[in-house]
Amino acid sequence: MWTKPWLIVITLAICLPSFAQHKNFIPLPVARFITGDQPAWSSMSFDDQSWKEIRTGKVWQEQGYDSYHGYAWYRIHIKIPSALRNKGFWKDSLRIFLAHVNDVDATYLNGVKIGQTGNFPDDKEGYVSKWPAVREYHVAVNSPAIHWDEENVIAIRDYDGGGSGGIFMGEPYIDMLEKTDGLTISMPADEIKYLSNGKATQPLMVSNGFNTSITGTLAYTVTDNHNDLIHRKIELQLAPYGRQSFILDLPNREGITCKYSFTEKSSGLQLQQQQTFPYILTPRVSDHPRINTAKVYGVKPGSPFLFKIAATGIKPLKYKIDQLPEGLLLDEQTGIITGQLNKKGNYATVIHVSNAIGTATQTFTIKVGDTLAFTPTMGWNSWNCWGINVSAAKVQSSAKAMLEKGLADHGWNYINVDDGWEAPARAADSSILTNSKFPDMQGLGNWLHLHGLKFGIYSSPGPLTCGGFLGSYQAEEKDARTYAGWGVDYLKYDWCSYESIVGKDTSLNAYIEPFRIMQHALRAQQRDIIYSICQYGLKDVWKWGGEVGGQSWRTTEDIEDTWESLEHIGFSQDKLQQYVSPGHWNDPDMMIVGKVGWGENLHPTRLTPDEQYTHVSLWCLLAAPLLIGCDLDKLDDFTLSLLTNDEVLAIDQDELGKQAKRISANVWVKELADGSRAVGIFNMDTTYRNITVNWKELGLNNYRQMRDVWRQQNIGPLQSSFTKQIAPHGVMLIKLIP
Ligand code: GLA
Repeated sequence: MWTKPWLIVITLAICLPSFAQHKNFIPLPVARFITGDQPAWSSMSFDDQSWKEIRTGKVWQEQGYDSYHGYAWYRIHIKIPSALRNKGFWKDSLRIFLAHVNDVDATYLNGVKIGQTGNFPDDKEGYVSKWPAVREYHVAVNSPAIHWDEENVIAIRDYDGGGSGGIFMGEPYIDMLEKTDGLTISMPADEIKYLSNGKATQPLMVSNGFNTSITGTLAYTVTDNHNDLIHRKIELQLAPYGRQSFILDLPNREGITCKYSFTEKSSGLQLQQQQTFPYILTPRVSDHPRINTAKVYGVKPGSPFLFKIAATGIKPLKYKIDQLPEGLLLDEQTGIITGQLNKKGNYATVIHVSNAIGTATQTFTIKVGDTLAFTPTMGWNSWNCWGINVSAAKVQSSAKAMLEKGLADHGWNYINVDDGWEAPARAADSSILTNSKFPDMQGLGNWLHLHGLKFGIYSSPGPLTCGGFLGSYQAEEKDARTYAGWGVDYLKYDWCSYESIVGKDTSLNAYIEPFRIMQHALRAQQRDIIYSICQYGLKDVWKWGGEVGGQSWRTTEDIEDTWESLEHIGFSQDKLQQYVSPGHWNDPDMMIVGKVGWGENLHPTRLTPDEQYTHVSLWCLLAAPLLIGCDLDKLDDFTLSLLTNDEVLAIDQDELGKQAKRISANVWVKELADGSRAVGIFNMDTTYRNITVNWKELGLNNYRQMRDVWRQQNIGPLQSSFTKQIAPHGVMLIKLIP
């Protein structure tokens, strides 16, 4: 079908910053829907009257198909008026926009296949999930596949391999493809240069993705909280696939917004966007030594001990520990402690880190017993950036960046490989094997350990993982032994296809059982393996995750890099505080800062800078495991600053181990070990708002001093109330000091 000359079909599987339809678009909000799979359902003439109606922009699990995974079909009936074609400027291609589809789709227009993204399990290449890809299929206007002025059927064959299913993260529509659709205007965060004089230079880039030149006017305005700082209009001619860039000089402070538009000359069509400047609040790292390691660390008796002291300051740093228990050895140059402790008990030590200009000192208690992860895990996970395209080389590049960009000096230390490392078949003795992207798993583990980093891996209690790779079902002990042999320190164990094993048994026990089996298998290893339970909050996992040995448990479905997802997940953690204690953490999923993409076409997070401040602040208030989900090798300065603010991270790593409580519509409060309180004041609105907090009404008037945690500055003595103008979706993170 691809060879027919009249049918020009282009498949775009790209992640766009926003889904801009043209004015005369036709929305496709509803479809007829059925679970299952039959080839006849693609046909124009098939009678789907008996199918149920479903909304198209929402996963089917939220529409009455709670635990269904597998094949399903959508059929959208739509009259396509020829007026739509005539309104277009180019009048040559109809665009069918389907937003994202969990996980694979093949799309038909009146029975003609117009595109496919991902591979179905029965495709010869094997299952490949492509949910992060935006589906945009283009059909030539003279294609007989389009029935102008008549009813058309857009049939979508969909396969959900686990997690959520269906069309989501945007509402489908049709419109005509226009000249401006090839244009992108961006202000890439990784090209910003922050200068020492409080200013920054930021390129504004305009690029043409089409093979035809484009002429028009670029206009941009930079405002500082409503006052214009810069206003420019430039006549532009962009060559086919051409690009131009303009350098803007901006102040590095909150409230700087750049609005830009491009008006195409011949059609008058306009592309408009706005972006907030990613202002940095985190102060520059001091030259003086500072210890950033959590104050408590847990290890089981007899397990290999590996811990790298996190400290900043001008290098070289020299590490010393008083009262280091016998059995442990400190490398004074690297701060890596190794060895083994066999006797249960608490060992109080004191760490000293010195350099040419001074010494920092901190207490550090090693607790030998049954509890691990006394503070939430801090590390990196491959999923949100690489998806199943992860490879040993990519993992190692992020691990190197963790060391070289100094993240490890701020406490980041786990490097976790998510789904996509497993070979298609087990060995003859049924051991799990790696695929060719991971030629030497043990070597990777050794390399990480040599640098003081920890090594995480991923599997499922079901026969298959969410990505369709081999899970640990009925091979749990074997797999735990293999992991221990590779030097694994962390296992994310993801429900996925266990759904098919549990079948119709909805009892609590059926849901707990697979996690118990792996708990026993892990316990039998002479290694500390953090057990990260992932089953999206089924059966109130927070109530029993700790009993099956979990140090953390995912509380929700997968996160995405949008405000809607962040808000829905992050702010729904209230009421789960009581299940949190040292060694037991609610997990609202991995972080969505930096460049993400779930496998390909990595894009900068779609969160605004203020939403990112909210994200990091909230995760720290929640005492959430902090797992960076971006490509660390491509880390920009702004994202690095978000991830290296020691006073913010210390809230997450506080040894009291409490999760923040929501005490009013906008305010979350976390108790800290030193008697102070961390307070997050959030603006959930889309505009700037003055938010007033009355400390007395909130029962927080017994504190002396207020500290701005991001800026690391005291604000002043506590007054009866506090008012602050907070950015849209932004936060003010305060510490109340007794
Ligand atoms: C599920 C999990 C994700 C990731 C993928 C891997 O969707 O929730 O975090 O591990 O599986 O396939």
